[in-house]
Amino acid sequence: MSSHNEHAAHEHHGVHAAHGPGAHAEHGSVAHVAPTDWHDAYTRALAAAQPAPGRTVVDVDLEAAEFDWEFTPGRSTRAWGFNGQVPGPTIEARVGDVLQIRLTNHLLEPTAVHWHGLRVPAAMDGTEMVQRPVAPGETFTYRFMVPDAGTFWYHPHVHETVQLERGLYGAIVVRGHDEPRLDAEHVLVLDDVQLDRSGQIKPPGGWIEWHNGREGNTRLVNGKQEPVLTMAGGQIERWRIVNAASARYVRLSIGGRPFRILGTDGGLIPTPVVASEVVLAPADRVDLAVGPFAERETLRIESLRFSRGKMALWIPKRETFATVRVGPGAPSRAEIPDVLRRIDPIVSGSVDATREVRLGWKPSRAHGVDFTMNGESHHRAEPCRVGELQVWDIVNGSPVNHPFHLHGFFFQVLAVNGKPPNFLSWEDTVDVPARGRVRIAWIPDDRPGSWMYHCHILEHHAAGMMAHFDVVH
Ligand code: C2O
Ligand code: CU
Ligand code: CU
Repeated sequence: MSSHNEHAAHEHHGVHAAHGPGAHAEHGSVAHVAPTDWHDAYTRALAAAQPAPGRTVVDVDLEAAEFDWEFTPGRSTRAWGFNGQVPGPTIEARVGDVLQIRLTNHLLEPTAVHWHGLRVPAAMDGTEMVQRPVAPGETFTYRFMVPDAGTFWYHPHVHETVQLERGLYGAIVVRGHDEPRLDAEHVLVLDDVQLDRSGQIKPPGGWIEWHNGREGNTRLVNGKQEPVLTMAGGQIERWRIVNAASARYVRLSIGGRPFRILGTDGGLIPTPVVASEVVLAPADRVDLAVGPFAERETLRIESLRFSRGKMALWIPKRETFATVRVGPGAPSRAEIPDVLRRIDPIVSGSVDATREVRLGWKPSRAHGVDFTMNGESHHRAEPCRVGELQVWDIVNGSPVNHPFHLHGFFFQVLAVNGKPPNFLSWEDTVDVPARGRVRIAWIPDDRPGSWMYHCHILEHHAAGMMAHFDVVH
């Protein structure tokens, strides 16, 4: 059976979601439908989630709703968010805790929440392949253990180009026993939003946006336009940074000063890395040790010029996200060890790729262009066996960069355009340069079920640049 037929078969599992006119603004023109027995797997996962010895259950209520929010001071915008705020509340836990999250949907359309980067059972992944979306008025409980320390985030996996853009996202911080000690810690969720003249969020639209993804005209840190942050002179802080933007890459600079990279998507890296800039593709996270700065300094948190090969004729100049005002000095008790964590390479020496993932596009009568994986929109990919080494070559045949995201599992990047990265890390999202290629390696642990990988530019994801696959025994 060709992969085309397999995909067609899996679409016919149930009723197609109502996509309505302008369906391409939603998650693709292909309906994603959970198998009719999804509830059994869900109920089993719910019962199986137990905290590790000595750990606890963290209860969280998330209410998705529409409300007024001031992205810019004095100007109110109809936003969507969790618990009346943008971003939603930061969910905090320790390794081994169980998160029990009750999602109540007060929106007028279905939603569901994906736990980006958390190694949850497939049934808790929040995608349209593993659950029926939560209807307006309904409550749905997610329950899973968090096995890894790091900075993660949550967001809907339904109608993303609207639901995320309007503010439905939040950070997740999971702490290990052996964290470096910094003087303070902050979560900075970066985003952008496209506001019209009256201060309202523009609905998705237009072929340029469909091509490039939306880069909004208003840059946000923690839901506020270009805020002023303060920190004490002489201190070193841990900043956990999340790029929640639909399409914008952030080539982050903090006043051009050096900082230390402590961690990436999948938690701490082996040893701190000094840098003065770092690129966050959409969905990327990075943990930094920032400072010390002198008293009364002012620094700008900016994104430097970065070309992701858009269809535009210009590359944006440096763009401000926030200003840091350094206040009076305070003593520092920061201790950042030289060894943060041990990471063993999962591949050594030369290996052959076990899969080629080809990112591309093709003309579409309905949308002008559809984005593809291995030549198809919403590609149905081969299954992966638990415990079997995966070496994937992600080959970008298009003239624009794509942030590749794998659900549920961390990988190591072996090479970007043939060059090994500067340091070893665990990632769930990696930028694949225009016309470039990235080789990753990962091993499915024992969490069988339905998973996916896709471009995290939300418009590209919606336009089909994704694949579904099963992890099997
Ligand atoms: Cu943030 Cu399907 O992902
Ligand atoms: Cu799909
Ligand atoms: Cu893309």
